[in-house]
This record gives sequence, structure tokens and C-alpha cells, in this order.
Amino acid sequence: MKRLTIMPGAALRGEIDLPGDKSISHRAALFAALADGESRVENFLDSGVTRALLNCLSALGVNWQLEHTRLTVCGGEWDTPARPLDCGNSATTLRLLAGALAATGVAAVLDGSAGLRRRPMRRIVQPLRQIGVPIGAVNSVSLPEEDDHAPLVLYARPAEKRLNGGVLRLDIASAQVKSCLLLAGLAADSPLAVIEPHRSRDHTERMLAAMGVHLSSAQTENGWQATVYPPDQALRPLNLRIPGDFSAAAFWIVAALITPGSQLRLRGVGLNPGRTGLLESLLEMGARIEVQPRGEQGGEPVGDLLVECSPLRGIEIGGERVTAMIDEFPIFGVAAAYAHGASVVRDAVELRYKESDRIAALCRLLAALGGQAEAQPDGFTIYGRGGLAGGAVFDPGGDHRMAMAAAIAALAARQAATVVQADIIRESYPEFVQVLARLGGIVHEEAHPAT
Ligand code: S3P
Repeated sequence: MKRLTIMPGAALRGEIDLPGDKSISHRAALFAALADGESRVENFLDSGVTRALLNCLSALGVNWQLEHTRLTVCGGEWDTPARPLDCGNSATTLRLLAGALAATGVAAVLDGSAGLRRRPMRRIVQPLRQIGVPIGAVNSVSLPEEDDHAPLVLYARPAEKRLNGGVLRLDIASAQVKSCLLLAGLAADSPLAVIEPHRSRDHTERMLAAMGVHLSSAQTENGWQATVYPPDQALRPLNLRIPGDFSAAAFWIVAALITPGSQLRLRGVGLNPGRTGLLESLLEMGARIEVQPRGEQGGEPVGDLLVECSPLRGIEIGGERVTAMIDEFPIFGVAAAYAHGASVVRDAVELRYKESDRIAALCRLLAALGGQAEAQPDGFTIYGRGGLAGGAVFDPGGDHRMAMAAAIAALAARQAATVVQADIIRESYPEFVQVLARLGGIVHEEAHPAT
């Protein structure tokens, strides 16, 4: 296992391209596997979680090739896998694959790491059952809350037996759940509408539309509604270049903002409004970030971001903004600790169900680095004092974003800090440490025995 020690004090300067967006990479590989023919995808994210999905596709008999970041997928009929599909640590793989399997009618067992088995699955199991998907799950009362969990079992469904269309209402805004259901809806006998309390990222809708599927989206009095109209033709193969991952860019944005003397240009970053809530929050905090739009790439808005070190002030976040920055709270928490004044986050109970309980993990990280943070059931308060002391050893508890947030927090601290079990970063951003060093960060990487 890897241990990273980050020395503070070095300004970050330069220009970088970002790895392909994780959410879009997952969708591109999976949807291409459902299409009729060969898809070509450039700037595919090659990382732990996307490899988990590609390996599942192999087990389903799908042929694909990945050369550097160019992915080719031959879509078509899927085979019944001989063994449970191992989704590793990736909830996106498991939840989206469940919807795609439901559409194909192929029987499979979906499983993954111990961490993935803890993630809540009733949110997909219950609505899938409602539209007629034969699915079983482990119901566990031994976890903190009763829920359904992996392994999930999908039973075979004969092609002539369509799923039910209709309207599904979700209690939470979740792109994974929405995408799972829209995929299942491809095999429904009539349109299937999914209503969320507010709009989550719409990569699925954009990509399915590019593959010839008719979808519509609208605000209704009950929330945001996305409707899929079951196609009577196979999906068209994809030919796209994936935009840079805003969630990877987020670490460099905050790194430049908090580290004196820093100035960065981040090129070709995906700017889907369902993803850029952190940008809006940082601008409200006084960040100097210039957005230079560069049109569309792969059906998604992209642009360059110019960022320089800026004084920040605390803010309050709640409601819809939470969904648009759902993956960015670990790094937002770091920005808030370097800001002056309190930052308050509400309506964010979902953070407790990510790769770790991110409300607890963030408060633990900031306390270890000499900051002041208080957890609430659905959020947290951070009392920003313009900096952190550092000088701590942090275990990210199997959460890639907590590990990267900790490394960035240490860049501008008064003393060095160490992140143990840092291999987990590979799950979403394998080049993170090299990029940090290339931009001027001083980081020592050493192997240490597995614990
Ligand atoms: C994702 C949606 C989000 C996000 C995850 C990726 C996606 O999850 O946290 O990293 O690709 O659809 P939820 O939909 O569960 O909020």
C-alpha cells in the first residue's frame, strides 16, 4: 500500500488536461455494449472503477479493447455470465448495470467489494420491481439502517415479456437511480417517467438521445421528470470524445485557490450544469476563477478554467446546489477550512451513503489537520480560519475522494501531512500524484505494508 507525504509551501503553476469524466466513461462503455455495432470512444477514463465495469462487460461476452484512452466496444447480444459480476468498489457500475441487465432480460448476480455491499440498493430494487423486473437482494438489518444490499440477483426475463411503463417517483435526486430506471425503461411496453425532487446530472439522457432514443425532460409540480420512450430499433453505436472530469478538476481548482502564488489553466473540462455546483459555490466565496467556454464535446458543454489563489469567505449551501456538487463535498470542505468565517451545508444526508460517510470523514480529516468542523445529521458546519495546521496522518478509509482532498488540504498547511492507504486514489484518478508533482507540489510516495 502507498503512503503519500505532502510538503506544504510550493505554489502550483501550469496547464493540464483532465482525465475523461468518470460518469460519462461508465455510460459510454455500458451503452456502447447495448448498441448494435462498434462504438469508438476517445479520452476514456482508465481507472479502478471503469475497469470494474469493463470486466463485467467481458463476463457478459462483450468484446472491447482499450488502447491508452481509446476504447472500442462491439455491442450486441449479451451472454448469461457464468459467475457473479464483480463491480468492485463502483456503485455506478452496479446500479447502471442492474438497469441495463433488466432491459436485456439476461440473468446475472451483481456483487462487489465489502464497501459496495454496504451501499444502499433499495433505491433501485424497489422501483425495478415496480416495473416488473424480477430481482432479489440481501436484506440486512445488521447495517446501520435497514436496506437492500448487494449481491443483487436478476432473474431471466423472456424477450416477449415487456416491462411496465408508467411513472416512478424517487425520494432522492440520484443520477445513478434515474439512469438505472431509464435503462430498464428501454424494454418497457410504454413510456417510463422518473420524477426526482430536483434535477440530477443528465449524462444518460444526452447519450441515449445521441444513440437514437427519444427522451423528454421537464420541471413538473412534483419535481424534475425525465421520460424515456422505448425505442423499436437497436441503439446506434457511439462515436465520441469524453470531456475532462469536472470532479477531478475540482481538486486542482481548490489547490490553486488555497496555495499562495498558484495559477492554473485546466483545459477541456466538462461543464454540464448538473456537475458544476462547486464552481458556483466557490465563486460565491470570492474565488478568482475565469470560465472560458469551448463549445460542446460528446454532447456535453466543455471549457477551460483559469484559477488563481484567492481569499475565500464562508457560505451556506443547501437544496438543489447539493445535487450539482454531490461528489465535491470533500474538497469543498477543504476550501471552507481555508476560508474566513463559517460555512454551513444542509440537505446533504446523501453524503453519508457514498464511498464512506463523507460527513463523518470530512469532520475527522479537518479535526486531524487542526481545523474546526461539526457534523449534523444532514450536513456540517466548518469554522474557517484561513488555513490549517497540518501535521497529521490520515487514513481515507477506502474513499478515493477523501484521500485526494486530504492531499490537497496539506498543500497549504503549516506542516506536512501524510495520507496512508493512498492506492485508493487509483479508483478514479490514477495520475493524481504525478500531476500534483508536475504542477510543482512536493510529494513523497512510499510503499508501506498493508494493514
Ligand atoms: C454518479 C452519480 C452520483 C455520484 C457518483 C456518480 C453517476 O451518485 O455521486 O459518483 O455517474 O450517475 P448518486 O446518483 O447516487 O448521487
